[in-house]
Amino acid sequence: MLNIIPVPLKAEEKEGFAPFGGKLKIYGEFSDTVKFAEKILINAKGGEGCELVFEKNTDATEEGYFLKVEEKTIKVKASSEKGAFYALMTLLQLAGNAGRVPCCEIGDKPRFAYRGFMLDSARHFWSIDTVKRYIDLMARLKMNEFHFHLTDDQGWRVEIKKYPLLTEKGSIRKNTQLSLYGYNSGKEAHDDVEYGRGCFYTQEQLKDIVAYAAERHIEVIPEIDMPGHMVAAIACYPELSCTGEPAEVSTRWGVMDNICCCGKEDVYRFAKDVIDELCEIFPGRFFHIGGDEVPKKRWKTCPNCQEKIKKEGLKDENALQGYFNSEIANYLKSKGKRMSGWNEILDAQDIMDTEIVAQWWVNHSAGNAQEKKWIKRGGKIIMSPVSYVYMDHPYHLRPLKKTYATDTELLGADFEKGVLGMEIPQWTEYIRCEKKLDMLTVPRLITFSEVCWSDRANKDYGEFEKRLENSREYFASLNCPICPKYLYTGKVRPWYAFTDGLKWALWYKNVNYEWELMKDRL
Ligand code: ACM
Ligand code: ZN
Repeated sequence: MLNIIPVPLKAEEKEGFAPFGGKLKIYGEFSDTVKFAEKILINAKGGEGCELVFEKNTDATEEGYFLKVEEKTIKVKASSEKGAFYALMTLLQLAGNAGRVPCCEIGDKPRFAYRGFMLDSARHFWSIDTVKRYIDLMARLKMNEFHFHLTDDQGWRVEIKKYPLLTEKGSIRKNTQLSLYGYNSGKEAHDDVEYGRGCFYTQEQLKDIVAYAAERHIEVIPEIDMPGHMVAAIACYPELSCTGEPAEVSTRWGVMDNICCCGKEDVYRFAKDVIDELCEIFPGRFFHIGGDEVPKKRWKTCPNCQEKIKKEGLKDENALQGYFNSEIANYLKSKGKRMSGWNEILDAQDIMDTEIVAQWWVNHSAGNAQEKKWIKRGGKIIMSPVSYVYMDHPYHLRPLKKTYATDTELLGADFEKGVLGMEIPQWTEYIRCEKKLDMLTVPRLITFSEVCWSDRANKDYGEFEKRLENSREYFASLNCPICPKYLYTGKVRPWYAFTDGLKWALWYKNVNYEWELMKDRL
């Protein structure tokens, strides 16, 4: 068994080994990949007497590659830098720290063009080193879309020169919710520690992250969540809301009624100003506008919102969000960008252009008429079904086996044509330290890479788990440790997890149960 994750389309192991490491003679086409290989292998042992050759071959798809490893020659054939790069990623994994790779023949290409990972840096902030560590891990796993959730009710974490308060003030919350108990009555416990002062990315730092990702064929997609999940911005510029009342950066999580007023021109101006600055930093194709969880309560009584609805001849408040989305989508289009957003951006889909992309986080089910209507209209989606892929949930609720089972089959027959790809999000409401982030993220991201890349016919969870266990040392060498098997298989079960009805309500407590139990052993 060749130990490669994600499992390649076709692979055949042969007798013998080829030396692989810093002493390799590396040459051929695809100069970026040749340089990357030299840089990454410079200190790796092995490689003496062997050559690594990159050749152009138009039979390979843009991201696909052919790889032939013989005892003295390793030959890569690809049609682009991307395919050559992914062949190199396969070789690095096959070599691990052994200084040699097994002789083999591989023909590989991805199932989906869009293979994404989302990191929430709004609820808790992640250092540039951590972000780069995860970008590195993505590259090793042949994932290509890094969705950066940069703003939310609890923090604004990207420098916008025209609106300096966003990071001066909008990055700081006075304290942090500790538990879900009492949440519904607004009486949940909080700590008494300020969080987030100075925790934001400057535009220069973001350019550095974008360049780092680009070197690894990864697009960075910024997300500015609008018009909901905007309390941190409203705390800085209260005029963005319907009432204009003073507000505080949120210290609790959930869905906030205080959203941007889509009846005010200033809100459209603000959004476009932010987009202007960010488009200078993020050269990619996509721009994510969030758009999830937008309660219309305030819009219903807001004179500005109601006037806008009347003036534009809109049906209702959902249509007002649709109008806002369309304005932003058109603006982004004028800058050469394709807008993406969570599935709620389609709450008024009849007025939405099918050029935009909807990221479906609400579970797919045979009865989801809106999703099917969208795909029938020719629209595209990215699959992120919450009960399969959300990584902030405990393993006993979502073992790796469940994440591995994410598939277009969830949509029902004939809808795969609407699937651009898949994405796995990590929300960090309950994650402040890196060890906990790694515990919940690393094994799932590895698992999900196979969901995105590998052919359905080649997927087998039991066999995957063996490869995963055999890869512990490799991922540890990338500073990405895999937590113990009895944790990721969901064997750590607090007593209350046996009460099915409570399982979901207590997910937060359960994830901390797993963390408390494991943290000293990771
Ligand atoms: C989401 O989980 N609200 C996208
Ligand atoms: Zn309003």
